[in-house]
Amino acid sequence: MALYSAKVMDHFRNPRNVGVIEDADAVGEVGNVQCGDIMKMYLKIDDDVVTDIKFETFGCASAVASSSMATELIKGKPLKEVMELTNKAVAEALDGLPDYKMHCSVLAEEAIQAALEDYFKKYPEKRV
Ligand code: FES
Repeated sequence: MALYSAKVMDHFRNPRNVGVIEDADAVGEVGNVQCGDIMKMYLKIDDDVVTDIKFETFGCASAVASSSMATELIKGKPLKEVMELTNKAVAEALDGLPDYKMHCSVLAEEAIQAALEDYFKKYPEKRV
C-alpha cells in the first residue's frame, strides 16, 4: 500500500487556499516543537461565517495536505461548525494518514482553534 493516499498527494502537490490575507479578521499560528513545523491560518469572518481562509505552512507533506483540506472543509461554514472541526475529520477527508503522521493533522485543528481564539479575543461579543 502506498504511504499516502491519492488525496494527500493531490493536496500536497496542489494545495488549496495558500497565502496570506492582509486584512484578516483572525490569525492563528501554531508549531510542533518536535518536528519544528509551523502552520499559520488567516480567516475572514462575516456574520459568523468564514467567508475566506488562507494558510501558510512550513512543514511536511502531511501538514501541507492537512492545512489545505482543513481550509476546504471550513470555507463558507458557520463558526459553530468550524469550532467542531477535529484533526480526525481532516485526516478522514484525506482518506487517512499513516498513524505516525496523525500529529500533522493536529496542527491544522490547532491553527484553526488559535485563529478562533484570536477572533473571540478581539470580538468577545461574537463568541459562540
Ligand atoms: Fe511535523 Fe508533520 S512532521 S507536522
